[in-house]
Amino acid sequence: MSIWHIYGGNRLTGSTRVQGAKNAVLPIMAASVLSGGETVLHNVPDLRDVTTTLRILQHLGCTAVRDGDTVRIDSRGMHCDFIPHALMRELRSSVIFLGAILARFGTARLSMPGGCELGPRPVNLHLDALRALGAEVTERGGDIICRAHALQGRRILLPFPSVGATENLLLAAARAKGTTVLTNAAREPEIEDLAGYLNRCGAHIHGAGESCIVIEGVPHLYGSTYTVMPDRIAAATYMAAAAVTGGTVLLRDVNSEHLLPVLSAFESTGCAVMQSGSELLLRAPQRLKPVRHVRTMPYPGFPTDAQAPVMTMAAVGDGTSIFVENIFESRYKHAGELNRLGAKIKLEGKVAVIEGVPQLSGAPVSAEDLRGGAALVIAGLAAQGETQVMHPQYIDRGYAHFEENLRALGADVYRI
Ligand code: EPZ
Repeated sequence: MSIWHIYGGNRLTGSTRVQGAKNAVLPIMAASVLSGGETVLHNVPDLRDVTTTLRILQHLGCTAVRDGDTVRIDSRGMHCDFIPHALMRELRSSVIFLGAILARFGTARLSMPGGCELGPRPVNLHLDALRALGAEVTERGGDIICRAHALQGRRILLPFPSVGATENLLLAAARAKGTTVLTNAAREPEIEDLAGYLNRCGAHIHGAGESCIVIEGVPHLYGSTYTVMPDRIAAATYMAAAAVTGGTVLLRDVNSEHLLPVLSAFESTGCAVMQSGSELLLRAPQRLKPVRHVRTMPYPGFPTDAQAPVMTMAAVGDGTSIFVENIFESRYKHAGELNRLGAKIKLEGKVAVIEGVPQLSGAPVSAEDLRGGAALVIAGLAAQGETQVMHPQYIDRGYAHFEENLRALGADVYRI
């Protein structure tokens, strides 16, 4: 397996285009099976998770091919309602296929998505929501088996604004009989993008992006063409890379509104952030002030996916910062690896106390999950000497052409 070699100290300067959103394109690709037609998606990032989702679609009997940053899916030939363990293990978020396959066929069988690097990843909210629409859901032999003679719209309250459960509900309710009113829905921008695609296919979904979403079921959906929204977490990651190197970087094709929840963290460190249209310029000070306080929350709160990259900024800030990770049970694996680079991070359950240090020192570290791996790369950009990051395949799941883009901004990084 390859290793990242990073020689720190270079200021990042220049501009880079931000990729399409991983967490929008994955549910939209799952949604394409609802139409029984052809879907063309633009601005699709070149990611391992996208490749895995293409393989799942092909396994189900669809034609699904990538052509540069365009993906073409034709779900007319779909003949299978089962996603096996090998594919589910590669991409646990494929649980969002459940609602789509069930709505298409009336039956669906998935291997139970196990836990992942972020801790146990239960799907009880997904299954309870599908039961509420009239599905019969059983768990047997490690599989989730769903049947629904006819999905019936109704009022549903989510106990927690789960992104995946909200997406599964949109997919199942889009073609259900009658109207579904979903309250306490997740408000992430990726939900709006999924609803935007489904409405383009003929669905009647109102209020996506708010906590109450109304879905009027329709009998048919049609294939359509859609452009995926920019990736707000990739944008925040490049901003953090610029910040820790005292750089000045222009990001193109961003949606600044989606970045509002993280802007205050960057500005508290002394970074100047200017936005104009789909561009965002970040100018970092020579020495960062502390991030101060980060509490991850459902959107529009601070996004849990930006916690690790922003923690690297805090690690080199001139003071102490407090982080509270409220969304996932085990999302601090990068802290121990950052400490190997000379950071001073103490963990106590959900709380991390980060005492900024003047300089990190390069060392071999190991990526344990997607965003934590990106945080280690960012730390290597700021560290003195060489940092080696092992297991970069985690990073490939969510960042397209990451090393090329960083090199183009002046980073001294190689992957061998
Ligand atoms: C989505 O995961 C994203 N993944 C995650 O991004 C992101 O961190 C997360 O939303 C929160 O924003 C994709 O969109 C593919 P949740 P998801 O359901 O849907 C618990 C990344 O790095 N929960 O909102 O799984 C769950 O265990 C990834 O790009 C239940 O208890 O997130 C977690 O603690 C990581 N039961 C919390 O809710 C359920 O049935 C939030 O989960 C479902 C979730």
